[in-house]
Amino acid sequence: MNKVAVIGSGNVGATTVQRLAELNIADVVMVDIVEGLPQGKALDILQAAPLMGYDVDVTGTNDYADIADSDIVVVTAGIARKPGMDRSDLLATNIKITQQVCENIQKYAPDSIIMTVTNPLDIITYAALRCTQFDRNRVFGMSGLLDSSRFASFIAKEMNCSVRDVDAMVLGGHGDSMVPLPEYSTVSGIPLSKLMDNETINRIIDRTINAGAEIVGHLKNGSAFYAPSAAITIMVEAILKDTKKIVPASAFLNGEYGQHDICLGVPVKLGRCGVEEIIELELTEREASALQRSAEAVKNGIATIRT
Ligand code: APR
Repeated sequence: MNKVAVIGSGNVGATTVQRLAELNIADVVMVDIVEGLPQGKALDILQAAPLMGYDVDVTGTNDYADIADSDIVVVTAGIARKPGMDRSDLLATNIKITQQVCENIQKYAPDSIIMTVTNPLDIITYAALRCTQFDRNRVFGMSGLLDSSRFASFIAKEMNCSVRDVDAMVLGGHGDSMVPLPEYSTVSGIPLSKLMDNETINRIIDRTINAGAEIVGHLKNGSAFYAPSAAITIMVEAILKDTKKIVPASAFLNGEYGQHDICLGVPVKLGRCGVEEIIELELTEREASALQRSAEAVKNGIATIRT
């Protein structure tokens, strides 16, 4: 049986465990520093198994030794945003948590694939890569698939069409500088530009960029978790089933898109080895300079963790 460890049993972590259990493809272990929290939530999820029909083991623990032999470790540990905060405000706290988590992954699950979720996502992914020194195919962040799903959901609402017909693509850093790509977004194969005017497209792009903050504004003391956990689950499934699915994710770039020594959202092919390929799209001048601006914003964040 495959095994997935989820670090952090808060909103994102626990919802991810529930979705993974329902997918029925791996035993799942959930880790948190709060005593009783992962154990209680894991038991609750396990007790739904007879009703929902999944047949995997779900356990909760405060002991990192229990992540041994995990194929994938999903890192959601850390604090989430409150109204008025942007993702970079979480950096100081979440970088320390990430370092502790990564030391434990290195110790107990040295052969695993790490999927980071904690924000600020691209900087945390970079820190996880540096801390574990794993090969770059084994450390990447869940970001662009979530942003693309948000973009797709707004396109479907605007068109009053089935969300199943929409394919959307968002690249760049997982923050205010993200780069939604209308030229690579379609409805039943029809480019967005043939279906709506520029003003409408720009309005949807703005809403996509602020989609996380819109939810924080409603919730007031927490951030999104249903859509993030859905994106994590799709990516875990692609890896465990070796589907070679292409999704945008934060990957370490070594010359791709003209970028070096940075984790940034780009299309990647996911399979049993993690990020098996980085797909380089041809970008217009406008898109390329937006991606460059996004890379600079992420690089500024990376510079702060180096000092
Ligand atoms: N090891 C394990 N768990 C930890 C650690 C640690 N060192 N430090 C903190 N945690 C746990 C907390 O105890 C808490 O249960 O991480 C959990 C975080 O849960 P929430 O506060 O509910 O946050 P959540 O909404 O799940 O978001 C987690 O994901 O999307 C990002 O921006 C979000 O950075 C945030 C992260």
